[in-house]
Amino acid sequence: MTTPAPGDDPASRLIFALDVPDGEAARRWVDLLRQEVGLFKVGLQLFAAEGPRLLERLARDLPGRIFLDLKFHDIPATVAGAAGLLCDGVRFTTVHCDQGPKGLRSTVAAIAGRAAVLGVTVLTSAGPEDLLAVGIAPEYAADPARLVVLRAQLAQAAGCQGVVCAAPEARVVKAACGPDFLVVCPGIRPAGPRQAGDDQRRIMSPSQAMRAGADYLVVGRPIRGAADPAAAARSIVADMARGLASGE
Ligand code: C5P
Repeated sequence: MTTPAPGDDPASRLIFALDVPDGEAARRWVDLLRQEVGLFKVGLQLFAAEGPRLLERLARDLPGRIFLDLKFHDIPATVAGAAGLLCDGVRFTTVHCDQGPKGLRSTVAAIAGRAAVLGVTVLTSAGPEDLLAVGIAPEYAADPARLVVLRAQLAQAAGCQGVVCAAPEARVVKAACGPDFLVVCPGIRPAGPRQAGDDQRRIMSPSQAMRAGADYLVVGRPIRGAADPAAAARSIVADMARGLASGE
């Protein structure tokens, strides 16, 4: 499939993470933020609560604006079976890069162009000691950007349209994979105090991330936990615009 190019409007590049407990909460967030953000991300929590019917409803209501983030990771036949069922009307979906080239290729084939497939490189919550603990070679564990680039290249070779990575790695991924290979970054934190219990590690502000070359930003808690979430989303978009203006 051809890669969907990001729009010029920074709001269209902001993805809101619908990490909420049920469909009713999801509906309230969609109503509140549909004019403020470009896409809505359905992840494990909401999918576990509501399953594919809610996904279908959201995809109908918000055509081209749904990101299904289930981070597929299993043997190729199982991933292909599930991915093949779920991606109608979805703009982006995710597959874990660490299942290797065969799994990536079979997922891309199962989705068959219905959604752009993004490879999840290294979770933005992981730090060097987490990577070492799961057996990643020390030279990659000490330098997550090196592992991210290796996995981005695997994803590209397998036919993925882009990757999910932390913003500090956006620049090296663009340099390795080219400007059209999409870079989608979670772990975005506006300047100011962090919320208690925040698990994100490899973080950047919206303007820093856009300057580093991110095409889309994924933001959840900094909007969901704000006193005025719509205003928080607008302020993130304004910061993205500053980053875009100074980075081009
Ligand atoms: O609340 P917060 O802004 O940390 O939300 C980030 C979102 O991005 C979560 O839904 C999380 O599942 C997702 N994500 C991530 N790191 C990745 C891939 C996806 O944080 N590597």
